[in-house]
Amino acid sequence: MFLILLYFILYCKQKLYLVNIEVLLLNGKMKIPLKKPVLVTSALPYVNGECHIGHLRTYVPADIYVRVLRKMGYDVVFISGSDTHGTPIVLSAEAQGITPQAVVEKYHQHFKRMFQALNVNFDYYGRTDSESNHRRTEEIVKKLIDNGYVYKKETKQAFCNTCGRFLPDRYVEGKCPYCGAIARGDECDQGCGKHLEPGEIIEPRCKICGSEADFKEQEQFYFKLSAFADFLISYLDHLGGTLNARNYAKEWTRKELRDWCVTRNLEWGVKFPGRGDLVVYVWVDAPIGYISFTEDLIKEKGEDEKEWRKYWKENKATIVHFIGTDIIYHHCIFWPAMLKGAGYSLPDAVVASGMVKIDGKTFSKSRGNVVWATEFLERFHPDTLRYYLVAQSSHTKELDFSWDSFYTRVNHELVAILGNLVHRVVSFTYKNFGAVPEGDIEEEVFAQIELTREEVISAMEEYEFKKLVDAVMKLAYFGNSFFQREEPWHLIKEGEKGRERCGGIVKNVLQIIKAVCILMEAVMPDKMAEVWSQLGMESDVHSVMLDELMMPIKSGQTLKKPKKLFERVEV
Ligand code: MSP
Ligand code: ZN
Repeated sequence: MFLILLYFILYCKQKLYLVNIEVLLLNGKMKIPLKKPVLVTSALPYVNGECHIGHLRTYVPADIYVRVLRKMGYDVVFISGSDTHGTPIVLSAEAQGITPQAVVEKYHQHFKRMFQALNVNFDYYGRTDSESNHRRTEEIVKKLIDNGYVYKKETKQAFCNTCGRFLPDRYVEGKCPYCGAIARGDECDQGCGKHLEPGEIIEPRCKICGSEADFKEQEQFYFKLSAFADFLISYLDHLGGTLNARNYAKEWTRKELRDWCVTRNLEWGVKFPGRGDLVVYVWVDAPIGYISFTEDLIKEKGEDEKEWRKYWKENKATIVHFIGTDIIYHHCIFWPAMLKGAGYSLPDAVVASGMVKIDGKTFSKSRGNVVWATEFLERFHPDTLRYYLVAQSSHTKELDFSWDSFYTRVNHELVAILGNLVHRVVSFTYKNFGAVPEGDIEEEVFAQIELTREEVISAMEEYEFKKLVDAVMKLAYFGNSFFQREEPWHLIKEGEKGRERCGGIVKNVLQIIKAVCILMEAVMPDKMAEVWSQLGMESDVHSVMLDELMMPIKSGQTLKKPKKLFERVEV
């Protein structure tokens, strides 16, 4: 009877925690209600080349966010996929002398392998050349035409007389009309970051043959972005996510919003309705992938096909996009305007990470300033990279990669604090007790764990993944000093009473390690699963909830033979 009552109290307490979390999850003006499902997306990589560590700054934090949210009790769907269209793909195909299909096939598989290797676990990873994405794109474009938001216009386009063809987007290079930096046809990627419209670039040159390009009149279709100025201003006021995204986008709405050219003269892509000679601009069909992948996932799960409407038509989900700062304009201006114009649900939050640089220089494949994901994984455990990517800098700030800074994080934090705590305490317990000893968890320990839990939740509200790892490392540090302070290695030699005291202390530190595992699982899923198993836990650390933090570790549970968690790296 007493046991039943105890279980009932514990059950109610769990429920209470969930309610608390809902109240806690206030991000500035945005609140993520626990009752609604959450759809988290990561920007779709162009599959025109290999995955580098710059890309990973979009995918790893999104995966961490999803894992923590699930531990808090949220119902989360996590999707992404390959961006298979546009000039990045076509140019890469031309350079390699193969078809765009072949390029896409090769790198789509490559990215899928990389995400698997890094434990970035999407519920669905699609591709934008799928039939469903073609269908959804056509439907949305037609809706925009019907609603009067798309019109035809003659415009000047860069044209190469030597190659005898129009030069869309990355086919042309020149100077940015806004800041004068060297720019691509559709974006000032090295300078001010602005999106450029066809015909805007100064001193255009053909990327294929290098000759000076001309401008020639051509018929294209435009989206009336200007009609959405008022909508965007008020939408951005309420947009959740990181402030850099909101503020950048607001800045742009204060200037004039010009209509947006949504067609291109290319073979490869989604055909513009009724025009065999034009495809839609890649930035039209790429974000629509977020919708079509949701549809595909629902189909795959065998749920009612209409379920996707809950996410994208009926406003019954919270939509959170993870992106890099280079594509804020597309996600905070074009995308919500398109959704609004076609009658779809709007994203609730845009989380934009700062760019990854290398030794202070911008990533550039052509200049050799790049660290490939495969190169990294050949030498180091994926979890060390996941940890580094969030520990190294605040999410919205630039991350300046250097091998030195990587070694420092691994040796001084993962090895010296976390690895040391686990190895030292588990080895000591294994040798002297073999199992979790008897004892009560002290108030001080529970209080530290509770504090860390709060810090982790608040880090998620702020999208500050660095705060998450810093908080958990602080708890690990506390574990180390608790062990050091109590000197259990003396107690163990002091007879039966000493052994009992020693057991109690060890149990408290094991409780701290258990908490570290639960809270750090999102960042280092493999390594924390190793620790979890060393502790002799039988549950699955990946699906354990935050409520488990306050449950005392079971006395008598047998420990596994300890193994070193991290290897020091030599410079
Ligand atoms: N295909 C578009 C996104 C379409 S979303 C509807 C694209 N692809 S990308 O391959 O260039 O980038 C994929 C993600 O990686 C983006 O979020 C981008 O911001 C991020 N990064 C690519 N290079 C990066 C760095 N050097 N640093 C940080 N993030 C970077 O954009
Ligand atoms: Zn510029």
